[in-house]
Amino acid sequence: MADVNPGLEGVVAAKTTIGLVDGSAGRLLYRGYEIGDLAARGTFDSVAALLLDGEWPAVRETLPPMELDGPVVAALRSLPADAAPLDALRTGISAWGAARGVDWPPSTAQARELIALAPVIVGGFARLREGDEPVDPAGSEGLGVAGRLLHAISGELPEASRERALDAYFVCCAEHGLNASTFTARVITSTHSDLTSAVCGAVGALKGRLHGGAPSGVRDQLTQIGNVEHAERWIRDALARGERLMGFGHRIYRTTDPRAQALRGVAEGLAGDAEWLKLAIDVEDVALRLLAEHKPDRVLKTNVEYYASVVLDGVGLPSDLYTPAFAVARTAGWCAHVLEQAEHGRLIRPVAAYAGPGVRPVPL
Ligand code: ACO
Repeated sequence: MADVNPGLEGVVAAKTTIGLVDGSAGRLLYRGYEIGDLAARGTFDSVAALLLDGEWPAVRETLPPMELDGPVVAALRSLPADAAPLDALRTGISAWGAARGVDWPPSTAQARELIALAPVIVGGFARLREGDEPVDPAGSEGLGVAGRLLHAISGELPEASRERALDAYFVCCAEHGLNASTFTARVITSTHSDLTSAVCGAVGALKGRLHGGAPSGVRDQLTQIGNVEHAERWIRDALARGERLMGFGHRIYRTTDPRAQALRGVAEGLAGDAEWLKLAIDVEDVALRLLAEHKPDRVLKTNVEYYASVVLDGVGLPSDLYTPAFAVARTAGWCAHVLEQAEHGRLIRPVAAYAGPGVRPVPL
């Protein structure tokens, strides 16, 4: 039987000019720009344009505000109030694509609309489940995508510091190579299916706890630890039970995730809950020490989700909207990969090594 590589580690499945994830150096570039610089000086809307078009926009880009049209609102209204918000995002995108007739080939115009629509769907569902109506996007024209998410949830114009912090988070999460959700989007695109289908599949892949589901896990973890004095005992017990610490470890990075460093700076600059931030910083130190002891042969460092959790908490998002917020940001990377795959890709079709029974007769 051929060698099996079930996690596809080390398999090079695409050539890309979108982003570089250098796991050993702890470096992340979007089209040649360092993530730390982009988080400090870029805006998410400009970064989205960079990812889609390949070059930094000549004039500062703000994606046009999108309204929830009838079929999308009807689809969101049909969901139970306790539906997972990520399911609502996937449903809303699907309804939009069907109503708009999004078809092959994908285009940057479709991508811009989809990226701008995603925060409005998340915010619209967050309101509908509380019995409130979606917010009229008029009045949010000056905001970028991150600000529009806050506006679509609360109906109010967000404080500039919160908008800026969420925007930096969005920049950090916009793109990350051939992660599971992006790969899913490229596989779907490789069949010449449409942009909406590719992004819906990617949202499904992101839903898993091992991929995009970690920031709310980090919050639960910090809530349970409660006080740094309890951290060592709590973490030792969790590791002894074979559990994974949320916000640590990464398939690619063998050093600190550069996005975690950028987001720690964002969290420190946010006038949020100072005690919560201090708890996160102190618990991180304990966790890193105990993870090194627990797995001396495996470098387990802080990943993006750890300080993402602190930033998302600081901007006032409810914890069940953490992963949907991540998804809104990642629509930019998914769409860029869909466009690249559509232009240069080939049908993705690996093989499985059959390990089932040999030929046998059907029982009568
Ligand atoms: N806590 C404790 N142990 C860990 C952790 C962790 N966070 N991460 C990995 N390990 C251990 C594993 O249990 C495994 O031990 P074993 O060899 O005894 O079975 C060893 O380290 C290697 O782990 P792998 O599963 O090979 O690592 P992989 O590359 O598949 O996983 C992953 C990466 C999924 C991110 C993992 O580190 C993890 O589960 N982390 C916690 C969840 C998390 O923070 N996810 C967000 C990732 S970032 C993102 O998706 C945007």
